[in-house]
Amino acid sequence: MGLQEKLRREARTLADKKEAKATPESKAARAAEGRGTYKAQQAAATGTSEKKRRVGTKMVPLPSDYIVPERDAYLTPALECRHLGIDFGGLHAVENFNLTVGKTEIAGLIGPNGAGKTTVFNLLTKVYQPTRGTILLDGMDTAHMSTDKVCQLGIARTFQNIRLFPSLTVEENVMIGLHNQVRCGMWSGIFRAPRYWLAEREFHRKSLELLDVFGMADQADAVAGSLPYGAQRRLEIVRALATDPKVLLLDEPAAGMNPSETSDLMDNIIKIRDQFQIAVLLIEHDMDLVMGICEGIVVLNFGKVIAKGTPDQVQANPQVIEAYLGVQDEEA
Ligand SMILES: Nc1ncnc2c1ncn2[C@@H]1O[C@H](COP(=O)(O)OP(=O)(O)OP(=O)(O)O)[C@@H](O)[C@H]1O
Ligand SMILES: [Mg+2]
Repeated sequence: MGLQEKLRREARTLADKKEAKATPESKAARAAEGRGTYKAQQAAATGTSEKKRRVGTKMVPLPSDYIVPERDAYLTPALECRHLGIDFGGLHAVENFNLTVGKTEIAGLIGPNGAGKTTVFNLLTKVYQPTRGTILLDGMDTAHMSTDKVCQLGIARTFQNIRLFPSLTVEENVMIGLHNQVRCGMWSGIFRAPRYWLAEREFHRKSLELLDVFGMADQADAVAGSLPYGAQRRLEIVRALATDPKVLLLDEPAAGMNPSETSDLMDNIIKIRDQFQIAVLLIEHDMDLVMGICEGIVVLNFGKVIAKGTPDQVQANPQVIEAYLGVQDEEA
């Protein structure tokens, strides 16, 4: 072990001992000043406390050593990554990435800026083909599949920067997602055969049903680009849901939302999981959201997994604290 690493460990141990000794009042005061544990600082910054957690899932270990919600223990995981990696030139953007997401789990992928989180989503959706490793979607190996194919098989995503068709209506944006499900042949479309009208009716019915999940059915005719930012983010989720996914990937769904919108979003993500019985893997910097609804969490730093576990385990992990905040300079 190098000297620098020894010093870091020493500093961490000292900080941990000090935090353990501190009274609740002094912990809160130090956290408010931007010191103390990551968990305490997050609580001070966001007002988060254990009471705000919206899920109390019992996680159980699989033979592979990964944890999933107890209810999913005997079901094929929605998503598994084994030793996944991609290089960009000399940069190992993602290296030896392992992940298991239970059939109906809400899982979190977190890490500092540039850690490789969006790159993992790009690998899962085949925007990039992995340099190394395996991805299993509902038990099926997706090696060499295209983006379209994995979408058909059940993986859907939203993007860090909203990607809607801004000049189309809200309903038309959802219909684009539905084309994966409801089919009518080319000739039926050209000649407006009865099958075409049946499919159109079905598109319309399903679109409104999906928009209703977010209470947006009454905005079906609005132009997507004219919606407020938070509503556009919700519409992107609805469009992803329209492809009938088994796994929904959300890349920073709360970015740009105000606290009340974020709070509604948390309820809606749980609702989506319950209603559609799917897995959700989300990337998010808002720790209130992550710790509030995620059941299992994986932490990336410089392309590598540095921690995984329940929200409690992750928040207490010194490597996570260091990755986010650096070792704290605690004065005596
Ligand atoms: N196509 C690419 N070519 C070269 N480098 C890339 C490419 N895509 C991503 N990277 C690099 O990979 C690293 C991880 O980027 P990524 O966008 O996955 O980070 P992130 O964790 O999503 O960060 P943020 O929280 O800021 O969104 C960065 O160093 C980025 O510059
Ligand atoms: Mg990103």
